[in-house]
Amino acid sequence: MIAAATGAGALAAFLRYTLQVPHALHDRPVRMHTSHLKRREVLAGAAALLARAPATLAATSARIVTPGQTEGPFYPLAFPADTDADLVLVKGQAALAMGQITHVSGRVLDHRGEVVGGAMVEIWQCDANGIYNHPRAPGHARHDRGFQGYGRTQVDAIGRYAFRTIRPVAYPGRAPHIHFKVHAPGLGRLTTQLYIAGEPLNATDGVLNAIRDRAARESVIVRLEEASELESGALKGAFDVILSV
Ligand SMILES: [Fe+2]
Repeated sequence: MIAAATGAGALAAFLRYTLQVPHALHDRPVRMHTSHLKRREVLAGAAALLARAPATLAATSARIVTPGQTEGPFYPLAFPADTDADLVLVKGQAALAMGQITHVSGRVLDHRGEVVGGAMVEIWQCDANGIYNHPRAPGHARHDRGFQGYGRTQVDAIGRYAFRTIRPVAYPGRAPHIHFKVHAPGLGRLTTQLYIAGEPLNATDGVLNAIRDRAARESVIVRLEEASELESGALKGAFDVILSV
């Protein structure tokens, strides 16, 4: 039985964060250090994150159905003890994840733009050094214990989800990406991947370019923006998942 958080639970989870921020942005993965953000600033950031999601609906008014993509070999064999929507903070770990904190949010909608009630969203990705928390992943013994690697959440009443994770990085053979699996109760599920706009490796990534329709391909490429209103040094990106149902 999957114990998914509710939308309200996801917001509460944001409020529980002990937010920590990098001193500066680096090209290489960096450990995050203690933040000076106050609780009300966290509240404002979380509210801003969720308030932003509806705007993404207008941007996808054409409602391109999100293309399915391979699950890949690194979907968890066993879920981590911590499976919440904050992949940067692992319960019981003192250090935050290496990498650049990135807030990914959006909505899960059907092809008519209607909310898919009760949808559950999973994501998984490699750590800031390109290593998955999976026993068959190359370098697994060296994976970042401070990075959760996998998380899930349930959409709220208007179909919104939100994750706090790290900016995905490339690993051999792949452009930076985040794996998604969206479960729509009674309707089925969609497995796909999110990519980052401006990444040179997008041009040669075999999974991305297997999506032959250009508009569908571009629908899974997300532009990241600076998000200091959420937390210092962070990025944000919006990704709506449009189901064919
Ligand atoms: Fe992958």
